[in-house]
Amino acid sequence: MKALNRIVSGMRPTGPLHLGHYFGVLDSWVELHQDHQCFFFVADWHALTTEYAEPQKIKGFVPDLVKDWVAAGLDPAKCVMFQQSQVKEHAELHLLLSMITPVSWLERNPTYKDVRDQLDGTKDLSTYGFLGYPVLMGSDILIYKPNRVPVGHDQLPHLELTREIARRANYLWGDTFPEPEAKLTQASKLQGLDGRKMSKSYGNAISLGENLDEVRKKVSTMLTCAKRMRLKDPGEPDECNLYPYHLLFTPAEQNVQIAKDCRTAAMGCGDCKKIMADNLIKFLEPFQVRRAEFDRNPDLAWDILRDGNEKAREAARATMDELRCKLNFNF
Ligand code: TRP
Repeated sequence: MKALNRIVSGMRPTGPLHLGHYFGVLDSWVELHQDHQCFFFVADWHALTTEYAEPQKIKGFVPDLVKDWVAAGLDPAKCVMFQQSQVKEHAELHLLLSMITPVSWLERNPTYKDVRDQLDGTKDLSTYGFLGYPVLMGSDILIYKPNRVPVGHDQLPHLELTREIARRANYLWGDTFPEPEAKLTQASKLQGLDGRKMSKSYGNAISLGENLDEVRKKVSTMLTCAKRMRLKDPGEPDECNLYPYHLLFTPAEQNVQIAKDCRTAAMGCGDCKKIMADNLIKFLEPFQVRRAEFDRNPDLAWDILRDGNEKAREAARATMDELRCKLNFNF
């Protein structure tokens, strides 16, 4: 029998997920969980590395992430969805791996400087915990001994560090951890409504749980091709911010006509947006149907997590038992 590939990935609970998160990351999770053994978790301790001054805020975002996942098509019966802070073994492995991780590896981690500088002035990130972000991430991963970790481009340095830490642990303490490979998720093809990167903080995102009337309103404000100053100016779909949305949501046959009508100015941007909004709404409707289950049952997200935490703990415990024996720390 073909051995099931094991997959681990996590997201920080920092707010509602939007289309930019779906295309690239969540869609690949949904695909992977059909025929892999997947552990997906809410990285609430990781959120604490930057939100430590307001830790109370994190809890509210935890069930929201589960709702977004299920709404987007992840079936909790087909994967393990859990909450990092409820599997305390992650913290123990983090402690052990911190003993063997050279500080210089962490200091030269590019995301360390980038994020610290980016948030400089708003947050003091010269903390031990923030420097150790990749050690915690490495622990999240290695404790499940996965083959692959789907991550975005920005997380690749962390995965490389995870592999180096695994090698060092294996060398010092005996073979324990397979070196997981990154499965690079595709960069999202969609820009935000204003043409910049889609981000909650820019206010240019359409969230997965967005009210459908709001979707229509937002689409009507979208930036389109700069060539179409007037209705009769022909446009160029390949230079338009809206057209990639059509490519994702509008049936291919119809897109050929849309591109033609844009290039000949037979159709204006307003009508073009209306067609796209209709198709985007069609795409989001099943998300809303699955999400409604959570409105009917307010405990559902926590129930899913409780069940997942149990399963994750079992797997995490096995690795920690093995490692404690190797360290002669099995008292
Ligand atoms: N650092 C990841 C991010 O910000 C979240 C994360 C934490 C993660 N632990 C992980 C991702 C383990 C994959 C595997 O996106």
